[in-house]
Amino acid sequence: MSVTPLQALPLDLLRQRSSTKWRSYDDDVIPMFVAETDFPLAPAITAALHRAVEIGDTGYTPPRPGIDVDFAAYAQRMWGWTIGPSRIRWTGDVMMGVVEVLRAVTSPGDRVIVTPPVYPPFYDTVEEAGAVVERVPLIDDGERWSLDLAGIERAFSRGARAILLCNPHNPTGTVHSRESLADLARLAERYGASVVSDEIHAPLTHAPAVFTPFLDAAPEAAAVGYAVTSASKTYNLAGLKCAVIVTGSEETAAVVRSLPWEVEWRAGLFGVIANRAAFAAESDGWLASLLVALDDNRRLLAELLAEHLPLARYRLPDAGFLAWVDVSAYGWGDNPSPHIRREAKVALHHGPLFGEQGIGHVRINVGCAPEVLREAITRIGALARQG
Ligand SMILES: Cc1ncc(COP(=O)(O)O)c(C=O)c1O
Repeated sequence: MSVTPLQALPLDLLRQRSSTKWRSYDDDVIPMFVAETDFPLAPAITAALHRAVEIGDTGYTPPRPGIDVDFAAYAQRMWGWTIGPSRIRWTGDVMMGVVEVLRAVTSPGDRVIVTPPVYPPFYDTVEEAGAVVERVPLIDDGERWSLDLAGIERAFSRGARAILLCNPHNPTGTVHSRESLADLARLAERYGASVVSDEIHAPLTHAPAVFTPFLDAAPEAAAVGYAVTSASKTYNLAGLKCAVIVTGSEETAAVVRSLPWEVEWRAGLFGVIANRAAFAAESDGWLASLLVALDDNRRLLAELLAEHLPLARYRLPDAGFLAWVDVSAYGWGDNPSPHIRREAKVALHHGPLFGEQGIGHVRINVGCAPEVLREAITRIGALARQG
């Protein structure tokens, strides 16, 4: 049975939202920078939040909020990944989980590997944890990006204590292969390093790509890995503040249990309520129709670029709603986004913030209506024709 694509909300309604996407620029700018999406919430989330508002359920997150059991069931359904609920803890958002785990597994001044081009807060987060960033860029063979396992091994052998993995990878949308994740797990184990795997984009993997949870990639992963994830990206719940931290062994679980209590207290109750509704089987149909809409849009973008910006270079992302596009051929400078925003009135994310591999690049959020995407690329195409 074919699944109908989820329809984005109309622009006049979206412009009433008060989030970053809709309050950073004037109304004549199409916002496609920050990773918020334009779809209606999954009905089960709307119902759960309505109910909470009706009864004033706005207090602290309880000691046993149930998100462990719900995420374990979701992971089993989505990826065949078996996790004991006792291996799941929670916090305010993915980056809070990442920083606290990094702080626990490194000492001040230790080096932590990141793999550019990568989600810009990764750099700050490593520093916030008191560590130092070591860059081992993804390998780009012109068709796909992949982890530079030899480079990562060199960094581990010179003393890097951890790697902050983006799995799937933002901004390229790469879903790392099970083999490369298994190799990474073995390397980390050999050198006594930790792997912190940010898996926030995982539910947005497009077939035929198959997402592999890092902790499930190889037996060695359980000893070295920490997965941090949330429903916040897929189900557009970033403002509600809730994420889960998953471990696979008694030792790593003990590390997470040893984090300050405050780490768990930072989870917002609305975030917990909304994440639980997202993880419920009742929301699977909504996710299926979201994935159809996003799959359509990532392909539509390829068509629109071919028509309006034929010199742009873009590869279909394996996962997510973010497109990594090289527009350097148009001569808009190292960071094309400000020029595009000023002249074409389309706000895109700044490529160079992701690392030097992002020079001449923009990141485009395609989590919107197809008409909005069409209008945005048409505007940028008109700018390109002006020369
Ligand atoms: C890879 C990645 N990690 C983390 C986040 C932010 O998640 P949170 O708001 O839960 O910290 C984003 C947001 O776009 C992201 O792309």
